[in-house]
Amino acid sequence: MVQIRKHGGNLKEASEKYKIPVEKFIDFSANINPLGPPEGVFEVIKDNLEKITQYPDSRNLEIKKALAYYLNVDINSLILGNGASELIFLIVNNLRPKTAWLPVPTFSEYEIASRAAGANIIQVPLQGEKFNKFTIDQLEGLAKGDILFICNPNNPTGQLYDVKLLNHILQATNDTEAYLVIDESFLDFIKERKEVSFIEKIKEYPRLIILYSLTKFFAIPGLRLGAMIANPKLIEQFELGRDPWNVNIFAQLAGKVALEDKEFIEKTLDYFENEKKFFYTELQQIKGLIPYEPKANYIFIKLLEPNNSSEVCDLLARDGFLVRNLNTYPLLGENYIRVAIKTRKENLMLIHSLKKCIRGI
Ligand SMILES: Cc1ncc(COP(=O)(O)O)c(C=O)c1O
Repeated sequence: MVQIRKHGGNLKEASEKYKIPVEKFIDFSANINPLGPPEGVFEVIKDNLEKITQYPDSRNLEIKKALAYYLNVDINSLILGNGASELIFLIVNNLRPKTAWLPVPTFSEYEIASRAAGANIIQVPLQGEKFNKFTIDQLEGLAKGDILFICNPNNPTGQLYDVKLLNHILQATNDTEAYLVIDESFLDFIKERKEVSFIEKIKEYPRLIILYSLTKFFAIPGLRLGAMIANPKLIEQFELGRDPWNVNIFAQLAGKVALEDKEFIEKTLDYFENEKKFFYTELQQIKGLIPYEPKANYIFIKLLEPNNSSEVCDLLARDGFLVRNLNTYPLLGENYIRVAIKTRKENLMLIHSLKKCIRGI
């Protein structure tokens, strides 16, 4: 079977490989909010089942209004998508950049989509122990019409870029007339989201595009819902390449309910503020690995020799835990894994299993 993608959340595949039923696995490989989805999501879907006989609103109007309010942006600067992933493809298919610049390691779909749209790929190796730095010099050769993808916080490292660096890059891409995409899909998990987000800057920068996803924070990856925020002129151009019914009727209804559930949002932020610290501190006690302090809802972990990621992932899977082996990412070799932050009980179970599977040094 043709398979070019490796992502977290492959429960079925793991179940076949390890001969363990899907429901017996605890999945730490996909970064989904363990408190979600908000209750109202299930209710609104159940109450509207008969709507499958209708086409969804091709303007995505109600969900767009709710998202415009939530993100505090003009409705004309938004496009909704069947997940943020769909919009990554829409961007490159529409802009047809000659070259896509990718600070790596990062989310793999930027490269897959850019290649499919005929772009050359330039990987920009991230620097520092946490892979959270790069310099403007590394963008030498950036040309008009090129595209640069930045994931903030970055997946899989869970780190934020320095705002000053991002501002420099924004200026550099603007001066060159290149496009800058900042993927803020995991920014909702950060209490200071407003100070870190570059959404406001779309008003001044006509080639700045922000990606946003509802699938992680609101725990609806199966429903699919994401968005892109950019200057209305650019949005108009992208609209011409959009499938008119790309957001299904349940995603539209559920997304609106989720965005309006302030209690769920507050509860999630409070939960992660505490659980991030707890899980990180517990991981720090395990000999043979180094966790990096997480900014979002997942933890980037370096394994120390003689441990290697394929072996550790295999041992954990046999124990019923799926974690993300990062050996498919550039620069990471067999030395890193990523784990989602789940419920306290589940996190403690993983810690217990890791202590058995990791060789201390
Ligand atoms: C950084 C990043 N952006 C976008 C996506 C895609 O999200 P969606 O489920 O909205 O398509 C993912 C999925 O893992 C991701 O990690």
